[in-house]
Amino acid sequence: MSFPIVRNRRLRRSAGLRSLVRETALSANDFIYPLFVTYGENVKEEIPSMPGVYHFSMDRLEEEIRDVVASGIQSVLMFGVPEHKDAVGTSAYDSNGIMQQAIRAIKGWAPELVVIADTCLCGFTDHGHCGVVHVDEHSCATVDNDASLELLVRTAISQAEAGADIIAPSNMMDGFVHAIRGGLDEAGYSDIPILAYSVKYASAFYGPFRDAAHSAPQFGDRKTYQMDPANVREALREAESDVAEGADMLMVKPALAYLDVVRLLKENYDVPVVAYNVSAEYSMVKAAAANGWINEKAIVLETLTGMKRAGADIIITYHAKDAARWLKEEA
Ligand code: PBG
Repeated sequence: MSFPIVRNRRLRRSAGLRSLVRETALSANDFIYPLFVTYGENVKEEIPSMPGVYHFSMDRLEEEIRDVVASGIQSVLMFGVPEHKDAVGTSAYDSNGIMQQAIRAIKGWAPELVVIADTCLCGFTDHGHCGVVHVDEHSCATVDNDASLELLVRTAISQAEAGADIIAPSNMMDGFVHAIRGGLDEAGYSDIPILAYSVKYASAFYGPFRDAAHSAPQFGDRKTYQMDPANVREALREAESDVAEGADMLMVKPALAYLDVVRLLKENYDVPVVAYNVSAEYSMVKAAAANGWINEKAIVLETLTGMKRAGADIIITYHAKDAARWLKEEA
């Protein structure tokens, strides 16, 4: 027998062989496409820090939904940019709010499209925090966990009423899954699943999104509710409580710098694991591609494959429409 004994290259000799032994396959079915809906008329405005991603007003949304459906994507994640913000995020749970209107309209245009509602207050509060801010006698401001839950429950119910297929609470308050599950059940929506943003890190990778959602905190940061990027055992605790409280799917966010966490949840839980390929992960690729420094298509498909290989069952990504089209071309 000649040296080397093991020749791994044998299975890489042709495209056919490589495709036969390929372990991970991406498909449009894996993607959730985020959409930003805003007030006003005839708005289709590109978000400067996220080339190719737009704010849509209701009257321009239908064309976008048709395009999403045509690309083969099965699901969208909705974010609302309201006209009015106040301290308690009233427009988040207004039955005629921007989110609720958009969900209702989309279910009319494309009843089979899975519409996921991001359930949070940060885009709807004037201070930009994900809950109710409590200021004590020393002018020290904190986000009040239990008072926030009540408003999140109202938000989730109003989104379910509007026709949302999945409720995705992203606020990182303790007990949020339990509270929302109880609220939905009581309101008659026991069949509506919860996709919990279970492991959400306090990350610099949300920068461009905050431009898009106008949701940057006006003071302080989110470090008292979102997780420390240095921690991983804490991710298990977050996931553990959410699963116990009835979460149907678990999310890890961001994705790229946290693929170890994606793998950890995959190995420890039987519910679908969702990775959020967040705004700055997208913007960095777009910026480098615009400079001609990288091959955008190859980089995007490799990145998304990596997320899936790490254990993601589903990927939320702003690249979804492009990726779905590239996959179709290759097939
Ligand atoms: C709301 C929310 C955020 C994102 C999704 N939902 C921002 C934040 O926590 O500040 C970020 C998504 C992205 O960066 O693409 N809480």
